[in-house]
Amino acid sequence: MRNVVLGSLCFAGLVAASGCDGAFSSGQSGDEPDPAALARRRFDEDVLPMLNQACAACHVSENAVGFMRPNPDVWTTMMGHPNLIAGGNANDSRLYAYGRSPNHSGPEFSPEQAELVRAWIEVVPETGTPPKTVETGRFVPATGENTVDLSKLGDKLDGAKLTFTATPLASGMYVTELKATAGSGGLHLAHPLFVTYCPGAKPDPVDSFYGLDQVVNPMASAPVGGGTVVLVDYRQGNCEIAVLFKVIEPGMTGPGGGGPGDGGGSGGCVNIAGFTQSARAPLANQCGNNCHAGGQATAKNAWDLSAINDLSAAGQAAACAQTRNKLNLNNEAQSILFQRVLPGQQTGHPLTLQQAQYDAFSAPILTWAQTE
Ligand code: HEC
Repeated sequence: MRNVVLGSLCFAGLVAASGCDGAFSSGQSGDEPDPAALARRRFDEDVLPMLNQACAACHVSENAVGFMRPNPDVWTTMMGHPNLIAGGNANDSRLYAYGRSPNHSGPEFSPEQAELVRAWIEVVPETGTPPKTVETGRFVPATGENTVDLSKLGDKLDGAKLTFTATPLASGMYVTELKATAGSGGLHLAHPLFVTYCPGAKPDPVDSFYGLDQVVNPMASAPVGGGTVVLVDYRQGNCEIAVLFKVIEPGMTGPGGGGPGDGGGSGGCVNIAGFTQSARAPLANQCGNNCHAGGQATAKNAWDLSAINDLSAAGQAAACAQTRNKLNLNNEAQSILFQRVLPGQQTGHPLTLQQAQYDAFSAPILTWAQTE
C-alpha cells in the first residue's frame, strides 16, 4: 500500500497561522489549490459568457438590479449584490431563483444554463464567514490501494484517513472502495469533492458527493457515500488529484444514534442483485441513455451511471453504489433520485416525468431501495 502523507503538506506556510482552516482563503501563494480561484475561473470562462448573453441586457444598467455592472468588474458587483450569490447554496441564491422563475421580467435559464449556474454556485466559497473548506493538497494516486492522511486537516483528527482503490480507465480513473477511517476522536465529513488537475486544463471537480454528510465513529471505518467515484478527466501520467471537504472535524453519533455503521463492508450496496433485477432497467431507460451514462458531462459528474449496462459484478456494483448515494435511506420515497424527476418538480432538473412514467419508474426502484 502506498501511503500518501498529504495532510502534512497542508499548505506549509498556512498551517502555522491557521491550522489549515484557511485553506480556502485568498492568502495562498503559488500554485496551491484554491477553490476561490477555481470558482472565479469557472465564472470567467463559463458563467459570465452565458450571463452576458442571457441576462446582461437588463442587468448592466445603473439601477437597483444592475448586478452585472462592471464596477470594478462584474464578479465584484455580483458578489456584493445582496442575496444574489449564496456561496455553496444555489437555492438561497437569487441569481439561480430568478433565473428559473416564470414571474421574473427576464427570460428563464435553459436547463443547461441553470445547471451551469447551480454547479458553479456550489463551488463559490461561502461569503461573510471565513471560508472553511479544507483540501488535502494535490497528489498522484497510485494504481491500486491509496491511503490519504487526513490527520493534519484539523484538530483532534489523529488517525483519520481516506483509503481507496484507483483503477485507470481508458479515459479517466475509477475510484472504488472509498472509505473514511476515524481515529480516537471520530470523524465528521461533509461534501467531499474530488478535483482533478491536469496540465493545461481547468481543474475538474467531480461532485458525486454533493449533500453527503457523514459521521464515522471512533476507530471505525465506513464507505464514503456509495464508495465509488469516476474521475472522468484524469489521464495517466500527468494529472494530480486533491480532495476537498466542506467540513472535516472530529465527531461521533450519539448513544443509540444509529449513524453510519462500523464499516468493514465492501462499500456500496447491500443488495446488488436486487438492484440489477428491479432498478437497473428503469434507470437505464430514463436516466442512462443520454445524460447520466456519459452523454452529458455535468450530469455524469453528479451521478455516474456509465456502468448501468455493464452486467459484470463490478459494473453493477458500481452503478448500484452510485445510485445508493442518491437515496435517502431514512425515507427512500423521499430520495433525491425521485424528487428530481417528480411530476411538477421545480428543482430545475432538465427531465420531469409524467405521472404514469413516474409511477413506472419509481415503483421498481423503490422495491430495491428499501432493501438498502
Ligand atoms: C428583459 C429584461 C431582463 C432580462 C433579459 C433579465 N432580467 Fe432579471 N430582472 C429584470 C427586472 C425588470 C427585474 C426586477 C424585478 C422583476 O421584474 O422581476 C429583474 C430582477 C432580477 C433579479 C433580482 C435582483 C435583485 O436585486 O433582487 C435577478 C437575480 C435577476 N433578475 C436575474 C436575471 C437572470 C439570471 C437573467 C438571465 C437569465 C435575467 N435576470 C435577465 C429584467 C430582466
